[in-house]
Amino acid sequence: MGKSKDRSKILVIHGPNLNMLGKRETDIYGKSTLDEINADLKKMGEKAGLLVETFQSNHEGAIVEKIQQAVGKHSGLIINPAAFTHTSIAIRDALLLLDIPVIEVHISNIYKREPFRHTSMISDVATAIIAGFGAYGYTMALDAIAGIIHP
Ligand code: DQA
Repeated sequence: MGKSKDRSKILVIHGPNLNMLGKRETDIYGKSTLDEINADLKKMGEKAGLLVETFQSNHEGAIVEKIQQAVGKHSGLIINPAAFTHTSIAIRDALLLLDIPVIEVHISNIYKREPFRHTSMISDVATAIIAGFGAYGYTMALDAIAGIIHP
């Protein structure tokens, strides 16, 4: 595979409480830890010629700033905004700065859960949504981005 500077950069953003995956409501979110998910994505990225950077924050402003920094730097974004999905106009507005494929991922099927999870501030500004496939949804998203960037 080419040198890292030659590879398209993909950013993966994980929102609040996703640092607790593996310990948190495992009946809903499964047993994989965030480190395992990130390691799998980086490995898969290498095979697809993509450089995967991962970022997790429990803070809305930090996520907004990370999205702003992706402008002109990253070729694709995978984002699980977690609880901010349902509330954050700030994250939504930041995503509107980007002119790259943006895939919204949810581990659980948010539409099968409490009514307050049925609203996403993000979905109509995302390129696509993946929800309900567990941690596999991240892999699906990276595969989809690879297909969009290197058809
Ligand atoms: C989640 C769903 C959200 O409603 C929830 O607040 C999360 C995780 C998911 O991946 O299924 O933290 O985004």
